Amino acid sequence: MAFGTWVVKLLALGGLAAGVASAAPPPPVAKDWPFDVTELKAPDGSITAKFVSIGATLTELWVKDKDGKARDVVLGYDDPSKLYSDPDHPVFNAIVGRYANRMKNGTFSIPISRDPKPGAPNVFHVPTNDHDGQVTLHGGIYGWDRRNWTIVAKSPTSVTYKHVDAGDEGFPGTVTAYATHTVSNGGILKTSIRATATEQTPIMLTQHTYFNLDAFEDGTDTILDHYLQIDGSKVIELDSNALPTSKFIDVGETPFDFRKGQTIGGRWDNTVDLCGQGCQGYDNAWVYDKTKSKKSDTSLWSDKSGIRVDISTDQPSVQVYTSFWMNSIRKKAHGGPEKRYGRCSAVAIEQQGYVAAINTPEWGIDQIYSPKRPFEWSTTYKFSSMH
Ligand SMILES: *[C@@H]1O[C@H](CO)[C@@H](O)[C@H](O)[C@H]1NC(C)=O
Ligand SMILES: *[C@@H]1O[C@H](CO)[C@@H](O)[C@H](O)[C@H]1NC(C)=O
Repeated sequence: MAFGTWVVKLLALGGLAAGVASAAPPPPVAKDWPFDVTELKAPDGSITAKFVSIGATLTELWVKDKDGKARDVVLGYDDPSKLYSDPDHPVFNAIVGRYANRMKNGTFSIPISRDPKPGAPNVFHVPTNDHDGQVTLHGGIYGWDRRNWTIVAKSPTSVTYKHVDAGDEGFPGTVTAYATHTVSNGGILKTSIRATATEQTPIMLTQHTYFNLDAFEDGTDTILDHYLQIDGSKVIELDSNALPTSKFIDVGETPFDFRKGQTIGGRWDNTVDLCGQGCQGYDNAWVYDKTKSKKSDTSLWSDKSGIRVDISTDQPSVQVYTSFWMNSIRKKAHGGPEKRYGRCSAVAIEQQGYVAAINTPEWGIDQIYSPKRPFEWSTTYKFSSMH
């Protein structure tokens, strides 16, 4: 059968090469696109994931708790069109781009500089949408999380979405991205992204997944009792606009020290204003140590559900946001729509490059990609249950 052959071919070649994807006929476009739901299920039943084309977004993720019962451990909407229309949409579990996290005044230059002069020929400007117009967050007003990706390959355990970003927000050149989500036995979800550019451009992508490993089933509505472990001894220091100062903070003896597993709320009283004025908790980026003996870069677990996730990535950093500002309609599986997701109801764990490295030349980190240098991103989430 044509479909089977095409899946086999794609798997044989790694599934992501642009040439392969365009050589085979893509699956037909669904009637309800870009809100069409694709369900993937591991053969051993350990994990079931659902995705929609808008933002190549993960909408449900069912894994087994300590009693063997499946729980949906990610936040989101039952109605995926809200990913496009809801002004309270906190970028639920989407692929974020072309430049994730924050960028000063939406302005950068190529080659990069700390204070690009607006109007100069090598300076680019994208719309601002954060901190009273002083900052661009997650690629601008219509970042990749609100774009209509299309399915180019699908099997019972894998789906590949494609997005062509023609520079419509002021970024140079066209970027073509393929995001592949795969589930496999043993509770594994893997997401890989490959992006190629027609011109020199900054690219910094992430997957913005909000976890609550209790899935609101144990009488608690927050993640403050979840344990978090991060293999990072440095945090990026931020200014009052949440932009890097170029310095780093050593986590030792600070509430940022998660090198050993700690509850997120364990040092809560010491996190007042850490994530901005009036905000409590975390919205910060750790730089990974990449300790060879560690089996994950970040781990999260809850004693209540007994669910644990070990996250490994090829990215150098992780943004952790404990969702202080969360306020959106809950899914039915989480007690919605009567109840809303509130303060600290989830933790977003975003594998990424260094925040705003394109405005921080001191770091010497190259985030400019080109036809000669494709961008790659890959993260594996391994779920298990603790008895
Ligand atoms: C921010 O960017 C805009 C558009 O390029 C520019 O007009 C303005 O001067 C910039 N502001 C600062 C403070 O650099
Ligand atoms: C993406 O889909 C939305 C919802 O159907 C639609 O309103 C919008 O026009 C589409 N955008 C593009 C660029 O096709």
